[in-house]
Amino acid sequence: MKKELVIVLDFGGQYNQLIARRIRECNVYCEVHPYTLGLEEIRDMNPKGIVFTGGPNSVYAEESPRYQKEIFDLGIPILGICYGSQLMAYMLGGTVKTAPVSEFGKTEVDIDRSSFLFGDVESKSICWMSHTDYIAEAPAGFTVTATTPVCPVAAMECPERKLYATQFHPEVMHTVEGSKMLYNFVYKVCGCHGDWQMSSFVDDTIHSIRETVGSGKVLCALSGGVDSSVAAVLLSKAIGRQLTCVFVDHGLLRKNEGDEVEEVFGPDGPYDLNFVRVNAQERFYGKLAGVTEPEEKRKIIGEEFIRVFEEEAQKIGAVDFLVQGTIYPDVIESGLGKSAVIKSHHNVGGLPDCVDFKEIIEPLRLLFKDEVRRAGRELGIPEYLVSRQPFPGPGLGIRIIGEVTAEKVKIVQDADFIYREEIARAGIKDLGQYFAALTNMRSVGVMGDERTYDYAVALRAVNTSDFMTAECSDIPFEVLQKVMNRIINEVKGVNRVMYDLTSKPPGTIEFE
Ligand code: XMP
Repeated sequence: MKKELVIVLDFGGQYNQLIARRIRECNVYCEVHPYTLGLEEIRDMNPKGIVFTGGPNSVYAEESPRYQKEIFDLGIPILGICYGSQLMAYMLGGTVKTAPVSEFGKTEVDIDRSSFLFGDVESKSICWMSHTDYIAEAPAGFTVTATTPVCPVAAMECPERKLYATQFHPEVMHTVEGSKMLYNFVYKVCGCHGDWQMSSFVDDTIHSIRETVGSGKVLCALSGGVDSSVAAVLLSKAIGRQLTCVFVDHGLLRKNEGDEVEEVFGPDGPYDLNFVRVNAQERFYGKLAGVTEPEEKRKIIGEEFIRVFEEEAQKIGAVDFLVQGTIYPDVIESGLGKSAVIKSHHNVGGLPDCVDFKEIIEPLRLLFKDEVRRAGRELGIPEYLVSRQPFPGPGLGIRIIGEVTAEKVKIVQDADFIYREEIARAGIKDLGQYFAALTNMRSVGVMGDERTYDYAVALRAVNTSDFMTAECSDIPFEVLQKVMNRIINEVKGVNRVMYDLTSKPPGTIEFE
């Protein structure tokens, strides 16, 4: 049976995938398409509703993205958001003007609660505004359903034609009742029943992987992180032993991690696939010997990773497809392009050039991280893999300040293991990312009447929602003290433990 579908037409806004995700949270399948999607294609897709997104343009600019007017005659409900609302007004004969000053940020909006869109919404609701142009006059046949002191048409609608528009962004968290509004749009305006679950995503993806791959051979670079693990299991369920996963153990993983990955994906694990573990620890340590500069370390680890993977891929021979665990935020990040490079992030994004393959498969491309975790749980992947915190591609290499050696790796692994164990024991759950790092500082201490001259370990824990900014977490002092005690007693080579209070900015989350 064909599932209900809502499509988001992308006019260049920042939050477009977020709209899709909010609608999927309402159990209605939603996909983002560029605004160049043809009218016939839309008709063929037979969506229950369409959303026009925001975008940076003004409807009056020559080059601004438009759509043909006939879309309004399809009889499919449309919700225009921000630029999308202005486009709707402009194309249907309303007036759009440029304000002398922008309206930006959380804004109290007066709401007409009799609108389908605003059922159960408070009559004064906080919404997120971000615009300079505004609708000065709604088109004929439309009623105004929300206003602010500076925005005469904060929302408008023509229920007979099922056309709705909001100047504010219901998809962002700052619009307090935004999810309710999107829910109202898909259920009350579009008439959806909500037939989509994460299990449908899993089933549909497995089905479409089978169709795409046929009898082809597939190669996957498995890191043991959430994204590549979920991608690998989806592939394994779809095509079994046509899939080979190569797991490069660069010796910079957390304690026991390499073995844990092998337990799940190796021959004794529950999945049907070919698994190759490459123990390349010595090779990486050799390349890193004497190197202290952080960017150089990153570059060496990234390049060596590609070399090792390339050698393994050559043993396997030509493959038809390469799997990448790209998720939606990676797509946005790689699309930004112009922002300054603070750290050159290394992940499998660098692989395609070196492997002989025909096509890339990215089964998680449309999902956000928490959706990937839900898909992982749906697939029965062990919780410790699914709920894992982010771990950088260069691994402990950038958590050891200065030169990386096997001895230092062992110290940071043991300290980090104790830290994670105590956090779990204390039942602290809401941390964004936390880990131990090894500073390059040695200091004098005293232990059992003996002088020591050992390393200082730094503990880091941050709360963050997007990893672009972060605040130091308020971990109870007793927990920190316990961790300190255990590290100093149990980890040889450490005589001092510090807690890093720095937020980001000015710091970064990792130490290098
Ligand atoms: P920073 O240190 O830049 O970290 O504040 C932000 C987030 O990115 C992760 N990170 C990396 N991930 N390769 C990765 O795949 C890298 O080189 C890298 N450097 C930092 C970091 O763990 C945090 O989640």
